[in-house]
Amino acid sequence: MSTITVDGPRRFIGRLRVPGDKSISHRALMIAALGHRPCRIRGLSDGDDVVHTRRAVQALGAQVENIEPGEVTVTGGLSGARESIYLGNSGTGIRLLAGMVANRDFVTTLDGDSSVRRRPMDRIIVPLSAMGASILGSGAGGSLAPLTIEGRALRGIEYTLPVASAQVKGAVLLAALRAGGPTTVHEPVPTRTHTEEMLAAAGVRVESDNGSVTVWPGEVVPPHTLRVPGDPSQAAFWLVGACLTAGSDLTVESVYLGRARAGFLDVLRRMGADIAVDSSSGDIRARYRELRATRVAAGELPGCIDEIPILAVAAAMAEGVTVVEGIAELRVKETDRVAAIAEMLAALGRQCRIDGDTLEITGGGGSSARKPRKPGRWIVDSRGDHRMAMAAAIAGAVGAGSVTVEGFEATTTSYPGFARDLSRSTGWTP
Ligand code: S3P
Repeated sequence: MSTITVDGPRRFIGRLRVPGDKSISHRALMIAALGHRPCRIRGLSDGDDVVHTRRAVQALGAQVENIEPGEVTVTGGLSGARESIYLGNSGTGIRLLAGMVANRDFVTTLDGDSSVRRRPMDRIIVPLSAMGASILGSGAGGSLAPLTIEGRALRGIEYTLPVASAQVKGAVLLAALRAGGPTTVHEPVPTRTHTEEMLAAAGVRVESDNGSVTVWPGEVVPPHTLRVPGDPSQAAFWLVGACLTAGSDLTVESVYLGRARAGFLDVLRRMGADIAVDSSSGDIRARYRELRATRVAAGELPGCIDEIPILAVAAAMAEGVTVVEGIAELRVKETDRVAAIAEMLAALGRQCRIDGDTLEITGGGGSSARKPRKPGRWIVDSRGDHRMAMAAAIAGAVGAGSVTVEGFEATTTSYPGFARDLSRSTGWTP
């Protein structure tokens, strides 16, 4: 297990580029693998999750050639994998791939690490089975990974998502590509739109209308080049760091700003943050300003679901009590993030309260921050969750004292260069 200690407060200064967006990277590899002509992908995430998806499409028969770091050429064509496919820590990888292979004429077994094996798979098994898929899960009720999927001819369905999940929507829409008729997914709350947008860009007939998306079966013709923009979920760590320490002025370059991904910026702005977005370049600049508490409504959560750990750090440093509603989905992420956030805040000497599906975080900012506070030496366990590890490291950089992050190696899931970028932006040395 690797450990780092980050001491603060540290100013966040300069310009950074974060890894390619993880959600888009997974889909780029899959959509390219479904085509039959070479597709160059630029700016692919270098995180382990995406490496696993790359290996998965290779195991299924696609060819992937390295061009340079972050750049590959994929030539599609799926013939089936000889062995079980291991997706590591990636819930997105396993769920999207399940949809992608459910309509093929081969059998695929998909598996992951102990975290993935605990995550609910019934949310994809139910709609895919309604399409006629044959999926054999593990565990009581057969709703856990590993999943064995016997490819079948599928039928189109109309499905209303019981939980707001872009992974479930994506799995169903990928399965729909070879169904007997159109498939419509209704979304009570909008989630990230990458699958439908990227399928449309690959020549598939897609219609999105007022919370519903319909995909018609058809050939996937990937574009010659797919460019993956910077990951807003990774940018959030640096931007929150800059918001919280006096003298900071940091820009993250070329960040994806599309729908249902930039919700954390709205939350930070409501907290009073000094954030400027250049919508043509995707550059986001953050400068220090004292933050105040806010309320995050349940309907906002899908738009900032992965940013709640770092927003919790912001809330802990703001003035007043921040309330986050509708947190149930956080319990089924890479770890139970509700418990992990509560544990992190307690380890940092901060207060929070969980009341059903509502999280309340009492900030130590404003007038209470001006009371002398003894610099602490805090220890936070990542629980093997990349976003918890990075949030805790930023907590170390913005507070007085130091934070030791145990299980820091989890950051390789999505951001292998996180420690390097912490050094670049704050001057921290390991
Ligand atoms: C993702 C969707 C979200 C998000 C995850 C990536 C995607 O998960 O938390 O990191 O790429 O579709 P859910 O679909 O479970 O909400």
